[in-house]
Amino acid sequence: MATAPPDASRPVIIVGSGLAGLAAAHEAAKAGATVHMLERGPKPGGNSIKASSGINGAGTQFQRASGILNDTSDLFRNDTIRSAGFRFQTRKEAATGNDIDRESLVDTLTKSSASAIHWLADEIGVDLTVVAALGGHSVARTHRGAGKTPPGAAIVTGLLQKLEQRPEFKLHTSARVTQIHVDGEGRVRGVRYVQKSEGGREGQQPRRENQEEEPKEEQVDLYGPVIFTAGGFAGDAHGQLARYRPDLAGLPSTNEARPGPHGLMAGVGAELIDMDSVQVHPTGFVDPSDANSPYKILAAEMLRGEGGILLSPQGRRFVNELERRDVISEAIMGLPQPATEQGIKQWDVTLLLDPGAIDATAGHLGFYTFKGLVEKKKVKDLDPAVIETVDRYAELVASGRDDDEFGRRTFGHWRLVPGEANREEEVCVGRVTPVVHFTMGGVAFDNKARVLRRASDGGALVPVSGLWAAGEVTGGLHGDNRLGGSSLLECVVFGRVAGREAAEAAK
Ligand SMILES: Cc1cc2nc3c(=O)[nH]c(=O)nc-3n(C[C@H](O)[C@H](O)[C@H](O)COP(=O)(O)OP(=O)(O)OC[C@H]3O[C@@H](n4cnc5c(N)ncnc54)[C@H](O)[C@@H]3O)c2cc1C
Ligand SMILES: *[C@@H]1O[C@H](CO)[C@@H](O)[C@H](O)[C@H]1NC(C)=O
Ligand SMILES: *[C@@H]1O[C@H](CO)[C@@H](O)[C@H](O)[C@H]1NC(C)=O
Repeated sequence: MATAPPDASRPVIIVGSGLAGLAAAHEAAKAGATVHMLERGPKPGGNSIKASSGINGAGTQFQRASGILNDTSDLFRNDTIRSAGFRFQTRKEAATGNDIDRESLVDTLTKSSASAIHWLADEIGVDLTVVAALGGHSVARTHRGAGKTPPGAAIVTGLLQKLEQRPEFKLHTSARVTQIHVDGEGRVRGVRYVQKSEGGREGQQPRRENQEEEPKEEQVDLYGPVIFTAGGFAGDAHGQLARYRPDLAGLPSTNEARPGPHGLMAGVGAELIDMDSVQVHPTGFVDPSDANSPYKILAAEMLRGEGGILLSPQGRRFVNELERRDVISEAIMGLPQPATEQGIKQWDVTLLLDPGAIDATAGHLGFYTFKGLVEKKKVKDLDPAVIETVDRYAELVASGRDDDEFGRRTFGHWRLVPGEANREEEVCVGRVTPVVHFTMGGVAFDNKARVLRRASDGGALVPVSGLWAAGEVTGGLHGDNRLGGSSLLECVVFGRVAGREAAEAAK
């Protein structure tokens, strides 16, 4: 418990500097609030800065410019609900006033999607002119830029540059929030954070004689409305993930390793929902030089979309490479698993790109090649079983027939021909394995981005006064399965709402 100082102009406090936090900061500062952003890491950007496929929008000017004229928020909404699956079907029974309103959250997300894209493009100046179709979408609606900068990095740096011009905005890095202050009535009043002195580790003599003084850390209390944009728990392998999905313990992740913030929020009453809905992405690269690392770089879905195929340890195809993420992950995990190495659970699957797919993904492949994750090989130097598979697949693509065996309907830019004519051609191969990628569950929230708690009589969900949330830390929107591109979108849509609402409360 703490007493807030009676200050008329309290700052808006934002916990986490990923896209949700930056979008909130932008709106709060624009509304005239002072903004303090607290980030536990040494640099801003979180997992958002790594996003590589893009951000969804239905009915945008960029879709129209690409000849996609039939997308609507209604179609996007239907795709989202279909993908969300079982959690939405059970909604009606549970909707006796004590469940979150999932449909209205999805309505807000999809109806605001075009304006979110236009805001990023027009007001922040991010290039989002290229649209692609990801798995589960009826049309191409995932936006990215035409250049080499991946969309996450482009959006995060664009927002940071805008924010740095605002005197109301203050970013504190190496500042880890450890406590949420509430008053006697359970209203959130502020936070406590631990500030590591920057550069304290270098250039300072370690003081071994006095244990007390060893950590160069300072505790700070800050008072004002609080927005939690602290991300998910996919990188919390031994904490929240092991707790809610013990079956996934040991799988590597595409997220940076850090504790999930959910316990902190549950501590002030926030309701946690769908915590066992965890998205496993079928393809993270196994780095040959550091094969047992629990952190993997994502092998983007687009590599398969543009023509890549997946091969079992025996060199055979085993799945429609454009199936939903969960279906492909399950197919991989059904293959024989090589001996577990150092507690890491991973498989031995090869991603293979033909020259057509290589050309279509050249912008990304440069990075993967530089990191040593993929290598080029002549067809004649591949394993005989792989050559046989490549020939059979090339024949299928050339024939225009259906892929009766696995049901793949589109073949991207694959152009390799079957037989002796392809032996001197170069393909690109890398080892991939399923990775924990995204956590659908999180704190319950509403259309105003207010965090919800169970009323003391155990009945309806009611807002926690003084606390907002947006981004991956929230739950409910994606049900059982998130559509690719919808996470960056939720950060922008609900981050902006949270920023405006908290700025209003700060006045
Ligand atoms: C490799 C990769 C590729 C992806 N590609 C896409 C894509 O193409 N499209 C898409 O829509 N989604 C994509 N995603 C998912 C998407 O990037 C994330 O879900 C989204 O960026 C989450 O944003 P956020 O702002 O909620 O959290 P984050 O960006 O994770 O930021 C949270 C921040 O909070 C900080 N924090 C946590 N706890 C504390 C604390 N106690 N005190 C202070 N700070 C704290 C963290 O250090 C972190 O910086 C991808 C994810 C990964 C990992
Ligand atoms: C949208 O239009 C394209 C052609 O431009 C068509 O192939 C596609 O099936 C249409 N999708 C829907 C959902 O109407
Ligand atoms: C979305 O689903 C609803 C309900 O099933 C249906 O009435 C509507 O036509 C669908 N919209 C589109 C664009 O497919």
